[in-house]
Amino acid sequence: MTDVPRDLLEQITQLENLFTVDTEKLKKITDHFVTELDKGLSKAGGSIPMNCTWVLDWPTGKEKGSFLALDMGGTNLRVAEITLDGKRGFDVTQSKYQIPNSLKTGTAEQLWDYVSDCLHKFLLSSCEDELKEPTEVCLGFTFSYPATQNAINHGVLQTWTKGFDISGVEGHDVVEQLGEALAKKNIPIKVTSVINDTTGTLCASNYVDPQTKMGIIFGTGCNAAYYEKVKNIPKLEGRLPSDIGPEDDMAINCEWGAFDNEHYILPYTTWDLKIDAESPRPGQQAFEKLIAGVYLGEIFRLVLVDLYNDGFLFEGKNIKSLETPNFLDASFLAQIEDDPWENLTETEILFVNKLDIATTESERKLIRRLAELIGTRSARLSACGVAAIAKKAGYTSCHAGADGSVFNKYPHFKARGAQALKEIFDWEMSDPKDYPIKVVPAEDGSGVGAALIAALTDARVSKGLSVGAKDQ
Ligand code: GLC
Repeated sequence: MTDVPRDLLEQITQLENLFTVDTEKLKKITDHFVTELDKGLSKAGGSIPMNCTWVLDWPTGKEKGSFLALDMGGTNLRVAEITLDGKRGFDVTQSKYQIPNSLKTGTAEQLWDYVSDCLHKFLLSSCEDELKEPTEVCLGFTFSYPATQNAINHGVLQTWTKGFDISGVEGHDVVEQLGEALAKKNIPIKVTSVINDTTGTLCASNYVDPQTKMGIIFGTGCNAAYYEKVKNIPKLEGRLPSDIGPEDDMAINCEWGAFDNEHYILPYTTWDLKIDAESPRPGQQAFEKLIAGVYLGEIFRLVLVDLYNDGFLFEGKNIKSLETPNFLDASFLAQIEDDPWENLTETEILFVNKLDIATTESERKLIRRLAELIGTRSARLSACGVAAIAKKAGYTSCHAGADGSVFNKYPHFKARGAQALKEIFDWEMSDPKDYPIKVVPAEDGSGVGAALIAALTDARVSKGLSVGAKDQ
């Protein structure tokens, strides 16, 4: 970057120092992460919730049948009918509905009203035959927020994440709330299981690829699930029915976004702290706020606004749009990182079209470097979570099935994450294809995973086996 003026070069160096996480730090974070995963399973608990899911079986690959699935993630609401063919294959018919922004800060009643209307629309358009039957249609609900579960069909929302702030849901069972809304409208659907998207991803990926031992979402939010031996979950002591033994496995929805809520080890910048302070739930989801899609654009925006205020960028320009909170999302950074031109022409157009700011080539070089730094930090810190679960569960070689917009669409995210894993574990092989732990694209966890878990639950219930705690 010889042609970039000295003051901008100095700013770039400072940003590099703030956003770079070196190998030693990755290792330290990973080790602390392992301790925190353990703490979350203890009776006293810790920052990471480590939620018990009551998913007690691994898929066999032979699961069969048609299931209705509802997926409520961070951006869309999806309703699907999934047919599992019993041979590790499946078929999906689905409709997507955007979650209106106003709903994200509305009331429980508005939320469940909207959700039940979407379900009804789907039933009318795709499942007419089911509606003719006098019996209720069973639904697997993927609710991608932290929930305390006493059983597979029960989930009390612990806290909203990903910027949601809907009143009247925290502390309540979402299955009950949705059930009431459906009953009020006489929609013949019964919620038979509620799962997290990570648990669904774990099951769906394991169904098609039995080497999969973790399910991870790198999207609007970031989180992972894996199976833990019941004997390693002290907080279940005294709550287990007699047919669940110490050697059984239970899927744990880690909710690792809450890692380091006490701000002990992660390398926070002033911009991260600002995002936290101004979020609807300050002090929560510390790890997620550094790495998940919903925050990447905002970190980038805050840095640029500060550089403008300090006189380093966009001198004399009107930056009104850039000053609007949450104006940019992760796809904006992705496009900058994808710009193939040396003089960053696409970034130039992007800044004019989206922000009405004309940029110089030197400014664009800083902008590109900043996007790289934020994207790289996200991928490298995420790898600490993957490594920590592998260490905790004793996996020296496995696949982790991953899904989500950041994993699927953000340039270089996969390669940067793999590189960080190599550094954490001191792997010597040079070709990422040979790395023993690989993060690979997952199957649709929220749809296929929900259907699989509904099938596994049906099978347990028909054998008279428990799907919840004994105090149920
Ligand atoms: C947030 C949610 C978590 C979900 C993740 C990915 O972290 O709290 O439940 O799995 O986003 O969607």
